[in-house]
Amino acid sequence: MVDGVVIIDPAEPVANDANVTYQGQSLSAVTHRYFMLNKPAGVVCATRDHEHRTVLDLLDVPNKTRLHIAGRLDVDATGLVLITDDGDWAHRIMAPRQKLPKTYRVWLAEPVSDHALDQIRCGIHLQGEASVCAPAEVERITDKEVRLTITEGRYHQVKRMFAATGNRVVQLHRERVGRLVLDPLLAPGQARPLTDFEHAEIPANT
Ligand code: URA
Repeated sequence: MVDGVVIIDPAEPVANDANVTYQGQSLSAVTHRYFMLNKPAGVVCATRDHEHRTVLDLLDVPNKTRLHIAGRLDVDATGLVLITDDGDWAHRIMAPRQKLPKTYRVWLAEPVSDHALDQIRCGIHLQGEASVCAPAEVERITDKEVRLTITEGRYHQVKRMFAATGNRVVQLHRERVGRLVLDPLLAPGQARPLTDFEHAEIPANT
C-alpha cells in the first residue's frame, strides 16, 4: 500500500516521502548505487563470462545481481566504466537521443594525417553503415595519439572510425562520459561510489 492505497501496477510512481507498507510491514525506500570503475585491459564489460574476468568481478560490493553496466568498453579498452542498479540512470547514459559525449584517448599505429582529422570532424563514413557518423571533436596530442569526443555509441565505433581513415587503434582509454571524469586516483581495476554531485551530472530526462 502506498499512503494507504493498494497499488497493483509495478510501474506506479511512488514519491520519496510516501508511506509504503506490504502486508502491514513498513518498507523503507531502496536507494540506488552508482560506481565508477577504472577498467583494465583483459576484463570484459559483461555480468558473466566463461573466459575473462568481468567488471563486476572487480567490484567488491554485496548484491551484485541487480547491477547494470552503463555503456560498455571492448575487452582490450581501458578507463571509465559506470555501473549502477538504477536502470533509468543507466538508460539515460546509453540512450542515443541523449547524445551524451564520451571522450577517449586513442593511440594509433600510424601518424594521424590532417585529412583523417578533417574526415572525423565532418562525420566519417564507417564501412557497412548506411549513415555517416555525427561530427566528432578530435585534437592531436602527438603524431600517433589523439583525444576524441563522440556523441554516438556505434559498435566498435572508435576503432572503426580510425580504420576508415586507413589507420589502426592500438590502445583506447575512456576518460569521460558526459561531465563524469575518471578519477585519476583510481588505479586500473579499482572502483569507487559516485559522489552525489557526480551522480547528478547525468541529466534527468527532459
Ligand atoms: N569504441 C570502440 O571501438 N571500442 C570501445 O570500447 C569504445 C568505443
